Amino acid sequence: MISGADVNGRVLYQEGDHSFIWLGADPNLKRGVVQTNQYLIIDKGRGTLVDPGGVHLFSRVVAVVSRFININDIDTIIFSHQDPDVSSGIALWLGVTSAKIYVSSLWLRFLPHFGIVDTSRVLGIEDTASSLNLAGGNRLRFVPAHFLHSTGNYTVFDDASKIMFSGDIGAAVFPEGDEYVFVEDFDEHVKLMETFHRRYMAGNAVLRKWVSLIKSLGPSMICPQHGAIFREDTAGRFLDWLDGLRCGTDDLDSLYQMGKDV
Ligand SMILES: [Fe+2]
Ligand SMILES: [Fe+2]
Repeated sequence: MISGADVNGRVLYQEGDHSFIWLGADPNLKRGVVQTNQYLIIDKGRGTLVDPGGVHLFSRVVAVVSRFININDIDTIIFSHQDPDVSSGIALWLGVTSAKIYVSSLWLRFLPHFGIVDTSRVLGIEDTASSLNLAGGNRLRFVPAHFLHSTGNYTVFDDASKIMFSGDIGAAVFPEGDEYVFVEDFDEHVKLMETFHRRYMAGNAVLRKWVSLIKSLGPSMICPQHGAIFREDTAGRFLDWLDGLRCGTDDLDSLYQMGKDV
């Protein structure tokens, strides 16, 4: 269960001057609004935000980030994809930081619709895998996760901590008030992931491609944008589950049935 202290976030990894931080639960999560996770990576005093979230979360995320680092020291923001729960706060973040924002190049022309005036600090990640060198010399890898679920989509691997940020892959939808931070009982947790993954993920062939990339990296944790974090013991079971999951275009017949009048 989420405790009161969890609104302040948790340090998932800290070694020397490198840390990977979960930015806490939203105590004011409204009914009908999807729960989200935000993450902060600090390397030698400089901060990278990963999927910092939408407009309505902005003040809460700024407050939690400020517990760990001065907002002026955030120099990088990464968006896994273009969805509003990931990136609709873009204009606010550009306003309070001097950070560069990285997102798949497919979305560069769409993000201005969230109200950005100056796009010079928004940089496109091209389709192939690439990486980013952090201030302290550590490296983040942009691992392609296209079509999982967005057409231009990146997950992020932190070499120093070996933590994998997986975006919407691994999302779980909690019953109201039943959120928890780490996956403890994988068999129960799967029930909270299944419906989302079957409908949002493009197909098993793409999932298998991503799983093989991730297994080769040997993640210590897998941190999704929604739901709970997989530590090493459950991360393997999660990847095996994805590897065999039929989803998206694997079952077009049920998706394209004609339903009743709305
Ligand atoms: Fe999404
Ligand atoms: Fe999402």
